[in-house]
Amino acid sequence: MAPAVWTGLLPLWMCLLLAPGFAQAGKLLVIPMDGSHWFTMNAVVEKLAHRGHEVVVVRPEVSWRQGKSSNYTVKTYSTSYTLEDLSHQFKVFTDSQWKTRAQDRLSLIMKPSNDVLKYFFSNCRHLFNDKKLIKYIEDSSFDAVFLDPFDMCGLIVAKYFSLPSVVFSRGVFCHYLEEGTQSPSPLSYVPRFLSEFSDAMTFRQRVWNHILHWEERLFCAYLLQVGLEAASEILQTTVTAYDLYSHTSVWLLRSDFVLDYPRPVMPNMIFIGGINCHPRKPLSQVSCPSFSSGESGVDEKAKQIPH
Ligand SMILES: *[C@@H]1O[C@H](CO)[C@@H](O)[C@H](O)[C@H]1NC(C)=O
Repeated sequence: MAPAVWTGLLPLWMCLLLAPGFAQAGKLLVIPMDGSHWFTMNAVVEKLAHRGHEVVVVRPEVSWRQGKSSNYTVKTYSTSYTLEDLSHQFKVFTDSQWKTRAQDRLSLIMKPSNDVLKYFFSNCRHLFNDKKLIKYIEDSSFDAVFLDPFDMCGLIVAKYFSLPSVVFSRGVFCHYLEEGTQSPSPLSYVPRFLSEFSDAMTFRQRVWNHILHWEERLFCAYLLQVGLEAASEILQTTVTAYDLYSHTSVWLLRSDFVLDYPRPVMPNMIFIGGINCHPRKPLSQVSCPSFSSGESGVDEKAKQIPH
């Protein structure tokens, strides 16, 4: 009898145990990414600080967009490149994007001469060279890391300090999201990154989708090579992309099935759509003429729409 009563009360106990947790403010370490990524993340970080969480942002000293805020602490580490180097290499990178067909973009991103990615992937080495900063993170006993996975540094930091991590991202290069979360990704229905296919593929497109998948498997390792070398050095063991991406506790994905295509997801992948870059002004009011008054009415109204 008694065990049954206890089992019956279990949900109540769980609620009582968990309830204070929801109201508690946490100590959050933020490892962001520069540029447009930061527009979006900053809005969330500001909100978290506003809600009473203690937020510390750790970022490179050289930055385009990341400044200071009165609402949270910012800690910087020095880099080997200057702002001019970064801007110059980024311009070289973006200029080359215009000259490339969409289908060839994967190979372009993976060019070994891609210095801008080398700069980003070297960030974590610089962070871990700053012994004072590492000691500070160690002593601060953060509850979690909130990170942008682009330069992999947040993933490395979460693993190094064995902290739970929340990823905030539009997506992840190559196949690392499906691999890290162990989501199935049937190639007949889930179009690959940059394939420009939809979820309804012809037989020919499905074959191409398979080929793109194998292309990713072959070449994506090169893309992350510099970052993984840094990770292996920092964590003092051979680190694979899977080791880093699978450590993530929660994936907050700024996307949804309207923008992408339906695909299997895991319970720790949460679509939060809608937030991207700067908050926009509200859309202006658009009056919608009624097209329900028959064929000729539609024609009359269509004529009035200025071209
Ligand atoms: C800091 O928070 C206050 C109150 O929430 C807000 O008005 C202000 O804009 C915030 N500062 C920045 C730099 O966003």
